[in-house]
Amino acid sequence: MVDLTQGGIATGTLTNGAGGNRKVVNVAGLPLQDCIALLALNNNAAQLAVATNLCTAHYAKFIDPGAVAGAQATLATDPFLNQVTPAAQPVLPNDAIGGCVTPSATCTVTGNLAKAKVTLLAIDRGLNRFFAGNTACGVCHVTPQFTLQTVAGLTGFGAAAPLPEPPGLLRKAPPERPMERMVAFNGAAAVYDAGFYNIGIRPTPEDLMIGDQIGGVPLAFSKLAEIIAGGDATGFDANKIGRIAAEFTGGLLQIPTSPTNLAPRPWSLDLICGPGLNGNGNGEPNNNPIPRCVTNVIPGERLLRHGAAHTPTLRNVKFTGPYFHNGAKMNLNQVFETYATAGHMTTLNFNNLDAGMRLINIAPEEKAAVIEMMETGLTDWRVAFEKGKFDHPEICVPNGHDPVTGETKLAGILPVGSDGNANRLQTFEEQLNGVTTGRAQTLADDCTVPDVSDIDVPPAPL
Ligand code: HEC
Repeated sequence: MVDLTQGGIATGTLTNGAGGNRKVVNVAGLPLQDCIALLALNNNAAQLAVATNLCTAHYAKFIDPGAVAGAQATLATDPFLNQVTPAAQPVLPNDAIGGCVTPSATCTVTGNLAKAKVTLLAIDRGLNRFFAGNTACGVCHVTPQFTLQTVAGLTGFGAAAPLPEPPGLLRKAPPERPMERMVAFNGAAAVYDAGFYNIGIRPTPEDLMIGDQIGGVPLAFSKLAEIIAGGDATGFDANKIGRIAAEFTGGLLQIPTSPTNLAPRPWSLDLICGPGLNGNGNGEPNNNPIPRCVTNVIPGERLLRHGAAHTPTLRNVKFTGPYFHNGAKMNLNQVFETYATAGHMTTLNFNNLDAGMRLINIAPEEKAAVIEMMETGLTDWRVAFEKGKFDHPEICVPNGHDPVTGETKLAGILPVGSDGNANRLQTFEEQLNGVTTGRAQTLADDCTVPDVSDIDVPPAPL
């Protein structure tokens, strides 16, 4: 259910049957389908119906009352998802629990509760598909943040180191390593910066992204490490890079452990080796030019940095459109279509494309389930209504310049109290379509915060 429910998951225990036949299930972390399978006393239809009633009624209590099913995963012919067409409907309208407030075997899952069941099952199905091999979204959008490109993703802050360390997973114990050597889309081994991938959104030479440099210093760790190791520094500032290299003592840079724990933690410019590269040197797969996986970047070896974009989190992705770094896609359906063809520039970007990309050929209802999972399941509905933890004071944001004075124009994002807004935020597509309901950040309001609204005016001389 991911974030659809307040707190992310349903908790508690459910009981079915009595005496020796009694079944008690702790539902924490269980998909609805598993709850039903575990709680049914046997596999017959009557028992499955009883378990469905009990589990759905219980799970429904955790669904945020503001949650609506997705508008994009429409599929009129699919009984599994057609409830969400054509417009977004509440997952659980106010009266939904109805006779099932106290779950019992006889309280039937009908009407509104049946809708909640369909949505929950669709989200579970979408989540499974998201991580399944032939879709492989999860190799880059790694849980729990749905990206590897976070401090927690790279270092395991807050999470124990996985034991034994599976091949291909980044090291979660010091020294952290921000790079991996792996087999790329074209079959050759290459080193890349964890969490940055070329997924073929634009032609690589047109948009280098972390393949670029600023002030003579490469943006990618992989190129930095390669230059420090003696690789080609043409076009870079050797002096600056030398100074960066000097910061590493014995190959390790000491960085604060976290914003609240400043004890230094060693950070290394070494790498880990992905699947297929940990071999014994006797014939690596895919013509790997590097016989054994060494943990340093070798001068001259292939780096997978040109055109590589940061992987964004997908939490609350319903509201982060337009999608991709260049805002190329209007909705999640279009995003999925981009992936289905292994990106738009598969041929052009062949030598830089990430190996996680593939041609995706799945049933329409599977695709719809993935979209429903992203659109409905990954939304924290408190965010959608700017409630509770996600309320805020007025926020002033720069919005271009005054054409006459050249001063920064500041727009005000209106303040919200802890009860949130009456209407949820609008999606990019809704704004594009001129939908008038919902709350849009139009940047049409002025900033009214004293001392901030005139922030660009030079201070008066004393
Ligand atoms: C090879 C790694 C990789 C794989 C596999 C992958 N993604 Fe992504 N994803 C990325 C990167 C990198 C971006 C950012 C691209 C950009 O900004 O140009 C991204 C962006 C997105 C976005 C846009 C988010 C936003 O706020 O703009 C969505 C949605 C998304 N991915 C969903 C998926 C789905 C669904 C799948 C599986 C079908 C998938 N991704 C597979 C790496 C990957």
